[in-house]
Amino acid sequence: MFPLRRNRRLRTNESMRSLVRENILTPNDFLVPLFIIEGKGIKEEIPSMPNYFRYTLDLLEKEVKELWAMGLKSVLLFVKVPDNLKDNKGTEALNHNGLMQRAIKVVKNAIPEMIVMTDVALDPYSSFGHDGVIENGIILNDISSSILAEMALSHAKAGADFVAPSDMMDGRILEMRELLEEENFTNTGIMSYSAKYASALYGPFRDALDSAPVDLVNIPKDKKTYQMDYHNREEAIRETRMDIEEGADIVMVKPGIVYLDIIRDIKNMSEVPVAAYQVSGEYAMIKAAAEKGWLDHDAIMLEQTTAFKRAGADIIASYFAKDIVRLLK
Ligand code: PBG
Repeated sequence: MFPLRRNRRLRTNESMRSLVRENILTPNDFLVPLFIIEGKGIKEEIPSMPNYFRYTLDLLEKEVKELWAMGLKSVLLFVKVPDNLKDNKGTEALNHNGLMQRAIKVVKNAIPEMIVMTDVALDPYSSFGHDGVIENGIILNDISSSILAEMALSHAKAGADFVAPSDMMDGRILEMRELLEEENFTNTGIMSYSAKYASALYGPFRDALDSAPVDLVNIPKDKKTYQMDYHNREEAIRETRMDIEEGADIVMVKPGIVYLDIIRDIKNMSEVPVAAYQVSGEYAMIKAAAEKGWLDHDAIMLEQTTAFKRAGADIIASYFAKDIVRLLK
């Protein structure tokens, strides 16, 4: 008899569909990226990221309280560093009274239970816009890794719960973990950007922090000698396995939407939580298409973000976190 099984029975109406739904976004899924600037009383919109802002510390405090009230319980901090503080070695990154170090304290004082994660990378501090120290056109690995470990320690001392190295130098997780242990920061976690691809989707973020590689002779124009080649999949597994062995508590795949296959691969092989980053370019594409009236903003936002969860992401870093949580209510 035709057909015994009719899958449409499970889709008859919203009540039925919600009964059998496999993946649902909740506020607990989200990690909220925040951009911070020097000054007072400023909340400025990032031109290539409509409705996303840079905050001075006073307004950061307000924003964090709002996030907490909405049920968003973890943040990922990024700072925009003034040009006069940038150099090749990212010296300012180790300033105990630097903007990041102060920002950590502001968030922790405002909401002690808020999970504070910090970006550990040299690019916002580098006069060349790279994630490592440059010599003769080459991004040096080991010295960069040592500086990153010191930077992580400085964030831990300021009160960060988790440090999040986004640089892709080899061996930095091990060096960071060892230094944190040595200095008794045994409870400071590491969320490693372990499979981070050299992607064209980071453009708006580099606008937000003014951190793009500079256009100078003998300075690489892209990050392809350290970030991964998007033609590759096994390399993502290898990078992730090594970061877990080196001591990463959480691993990350980045970008998200065009790398859902990688998120699933990593979820299948990883015994630590997997994060995925819905990056600035993904945000900008949705905003731009919606602005033109070509896509339904909320519908496409929910569809794409839910796809991260279906692919296997335990944590989603997203600029849409607030918008989504508002819709879920
Ligand atoms: C820098 C860093 C980048 C992002 C997070 N950390 C940009 C880059 O690697 O050039 C991108 C995030 C986004 O695009 O939203 N280490």
